[in-house]
Amino acid sequence: MTISTRAERIVILTGAGLSAESGLGTFRDKDGLWTRYDLNEVATPEGFARNPVLVHEFYNARRANMLAASPNAAHHALADLQQFAPARVTLVTQNIDDLLERAGAREVIHMHGELTRALCAACGHRWDAPEAMQPADPCPACGAKATRPDIVWFGEFPYHMERIEAALANADLFVAIGTSGNVYPAAGFVQEAAFAGARTLELNLEASANAGLFDETRLGPASRIVPDWVAEMRS
Ligand code: APR
Repeated sequence: MTISTRAERIVILTGAGLSAESGLGTFRDKDGLWTRYDLNEVATPEGFARNPVLVHEFYNARRANMLAASPNAAHHALADLQQFAPARVTLVTQNIDDLLERAGAREVIHMHGELTRALCAACGHRWDAPEAMQPADPCPACGAKATRPDIVWFGEFPYHMERIEAALANADLFVAIGTSGNVYPAAGFVQEAAFAGARTLELNLEASANAGLFDETRLGPASRIVPDWVAEMRS
């Protein structure tokens, strides 16, 4: 079903597929990150406690990839939509890269944290992450050698959930872009938005695990179908 995308309060959820064409890996596609690394070793608090050096090496490599990457046409289209559309656009991302910000998007809600930030596991202080981090890096606030990436690991609570829930409860259009619908709470946002009366649209390379929950699904690479959709919204 093709839905009208006239909307005043749009909530957009993005996943790794948004940054795939910028060269950053996805997780569950063929040769995705979780097919090459054991997420229990590099994306859980227990893995960090066992081997903080390995975890920092994993995120240092992803930070280097991010710094070498550029936003693609989909990132730029979403930044343009936010800037020029009459609608209020809330950008929620599961991604930890800063490509939306580098494309000009503002107030991006990073529910799984950000590679550009560091967190002190001792006092909770946050600061801008250096390009490469080591466990012995002292916290600028308390001096403890308990530096970790400011990333939400499996088993931890996603960030900014109150802000996200409020936006979903008030949305009249929810769009999920480049996410497989495998990880909650993000995978449940489409149902929360629909319950609040929003129309729901999925933009993905392939149908996601929860494709059946959307009013409409459009398939193709984000760098093509996201700019096409944004052009429609701005026409
Ligand atoms: N254009 C659009 N979508 C794409 C493209 C592309 N070029 N390439 C891949 N995709 C889609 C895939 O079809 C898939 O639906 O991106 C999605 C990638 O799925 P995942 O690898 O599971 O990534 P994501 O949904 O973001 O994972 C969610 O899981 O591991 C955790 O914290 C991690 O934030 C991540 C979360």
